[in-house]
Amino acid sequence: MQKYLITGGAGFIGSHLADNLLASGNEVIVLDDLSTGRLENIEQNSDNSKFKFVEGSILDEELVSRMIGETDQVLHLAAAVGVFSIMKDPLGSLKTNIRGSEIVLENACKFMKPVLVTSTSEIYGKNTSDLLSEDDDRILGSATKTRWSYSEAKAIEEFLAYSYWKTANLETRIVRLFNTVGPRQVGSYGMVIPRFISAAIAGESIQVYGNGEQTRCFGHVSDISQGIISVLNSRQTIGEVLNLGVNFEISIIDLAQLIIKKTNSTSKIELVPYDQAYEEGFEDMQRRVPDTRKIERITGWKAKLNLEQIIDDVISYQLSTQHKV
Ligand SMILES: NC(=O)c1ccc[n+]([C@@H]2O[C@H](COP(=O)([O-])OP(=O)(O)OC[C@H]3O[C@@H](n4cnc5c(N)ncnc54)[C@H](O)[C@@H]3O)[C@@H](O)[C@H]2O)c1
Repeated sequence: MQKYLITGGAGFIGSHLADNLLASGNEVIVLDDLSTGRLENIEQNSDNSKFKFVEGSILDEELVSRMIGETDQVLHLAAAVGVFSIMKDPLGSLKTNIRGSEIVLENACKFMKPVLVTSTSEIYGKNTSDLLSEDDDRILGSATKTRWSYSEAKAIEEFLAYSYWKTANLETRIVRLFNTVGPRQVGSYGMVIPRFISAAIAGESIQVYGNGEQTRCFGHVSDISQGIISVLNSRQTIGEVLNLGVNFEISIIDLAQLIIKKTNSTSKIELVPYDQAYEEGFEDMQRRVPDTRKIERITGWKAKLNLEQIIDDVISYQLSTQHKV
């Protein structure tokens, strides 16, 4: 049994990871500043003696050092996420995603505690290859476009993690997550499925940005969380980068139609130009399909749930919690 520190553990993915690790008898400490995380995501563990929540920031060096000193392994998920958050507060997002990650890695190195970092498919930028594999090129837009700063910051986080492994033998693992969806995710930071479902349930228009022909692939948070644990449990993943996602591709307009059908909604689809949804000159990615052969080969992980099951779960979650995003 291990004692894990999960930064960002009151967030969407981190809280599911905490549940899974606790279910197999581990201890979990969560460090979260509740900027996008929520106490209701972790309230089910409040009476568990193996669970502890500390409200604080990864930018607090003294706190991070003390907490890492008390744990066996670190799962670093804390980040400024979601296109809306990045566009709204570019400087704060960069500080969290670069300096925050640096503080976590520096202190993990100080105590030589293994760290897993959660990077992102945004790393690949505008590369629209059929299957994006870990060594593929990054194709990014101009540095005058704020949107790309998230990709850059996460790339720096990856370089830092990899360099700590290469130069200091710190056991680091990097997982590149593709779109992850499921209960507890909220749509207010630009996450598409909870946003569409919430609008569909309310009978409001579903706002599709751009022409809707851009495609995405979605993984269920329970599969993704199991994937992260399978990476954690393998020594062959140390010093490696692994894609983690599902490669079933759907256009955003088809996704909106599927959600309308599944919710029996009267909602209409409204196309909103990117300039209006974000800012003038905003660039989106046209597609992002993961090549997951590496993680499957090394860990044996495979996704079990399909898009329809994901949508059903988010609908049930929103109906049961009256969660309005
Ligand atoms: N959800 C996805 O589709 C997706 C895709 C790719 C990568 N990721 C990565 O997965 C990780 C988790 O994302 P998520 O989807 O669960 O989002 P989330 O917003 O629910 O989780 C991020 C958590 O970090 C916390 N946080 C932010 N700044 C902090 C700080 N300075 N100190 C402490 N805590 C802080 C937030 O309060 C939140 O609980 C992130 O690193 C994100 O980049 C997510």
